[in-house]
Amino acid sequence: MRHASFLTIVVALLGAAAVCAHGTRGARAGPTAGVEDTMAQRMQACVICHGEEGRATREGYFPRIAGKPAGYLYNQLQNFKAGRRRNEAMSHLLQHLSDDYLRDIARHFAELDLAYPAVRATGLTHEQQRMAEKLVFEGVRERDLPACVACHGRQMAGMQPAMPGLLTLPSDYLIAQLGSWRTGQRKAMAPDCMAEVAKRLTPEEVSAVARWLSAQTIDAGTQPAPAAGQPLPMRCGGMER
Ligand code: HEC
Ligand code: HEC
Repeated sequence: MRHASFLTIVVALLGAAAVCAHGTRGARAGPTAGVEDTMAQRMQACVICHGEEGRATREGYFPRIAGKPAGYLYNQLQNFKAGRRRNEAMSHLLQHLSDDYLRDIARHFAELDLAYPAVRATGLTHEQQRMAEKLVFEGVRERDLPACVACHGRQMAGMQPAMPGLLTLPSDYLIAQLGSWRTGQRKAMAPDCMAEVAKRLTPEEVSAVARWLSAQTIDAGTQPAPAAGQPLPMRCGGMER
């Protein structure tokens, strides 16, 4: 019950702010401070969970959304709406929002260029550390497992148009996402390459790579890599834009 009424307030915030944003939209040309403020205000509904300006911390569960490619964020909003990803709060919030509005939201968070938390100790053993770095940078040829960097970008900061960066995300969140792909709880647009990748990982690898990714950092200002010039190692849906 308490949860439901909290969400009603969040939806109201989002709706009311969207209406007033509509009134002022287009009144000025270009990215002026006024337009920025309005969008930021609308997005207060998201900040409650995702942290100030969408910069979630690496503690806890909520994923950072700032600075991920707009195509990726848009696909996720669509995935929650269509039930390919399940989260009560997210689906509830998005159910009445138009595709155009979702596109605006995705663009807003993609353009935020915020500092990432500092690097910290992984807490992994030497062996686990090697296991994680091999997965990230080299992959495992015998198991047809491409390196994470082949898709997520050389710096793991994501790749245009729709590949997310993974560094500094909470390890609990990363473990949950990889687990959901393995059990079919999370799906991406077909062909779902990430489901294949997740199924080829052992539970030990999932834990090591999640803890490794969570402990790294990226310099402020690092952008997702440009779209790959050559085909990805596996076909992935939702990449055309
Ligand atoms: C009540 C808390 C809550 C609110 C409010 C909320 N979110 Fe979320 N959001 C979550 C959780 C929890 C997840 C992760 C769900 C999962 O495990 O897949 C998530 C996931 C996401 C993702 C996917 C992130 C990724 O890296 O794949 C996006 C994008 C997102 N939210 C955007 C938004 C936007 C935009 C708003 C405001 C309209 C918003 N959220 C409001 C809790 C919330
Ligand atoms: C063949 C390309 C490919 C490879 C290789 C790959 N990924 Fe992905 N990954 C994707 C795509 C595409 C998505 C976005 C899926 C979607 O739209 O939901 C994704 C998303 C993710 C997410 C969700 C991020 C979020 O914010 O919710 C995680 C976690 C992830 N990948 C981990 C990994 C790890 C760890 C590796 C290496 C072991 C890896 N991926 C290798 C294509 C790939």
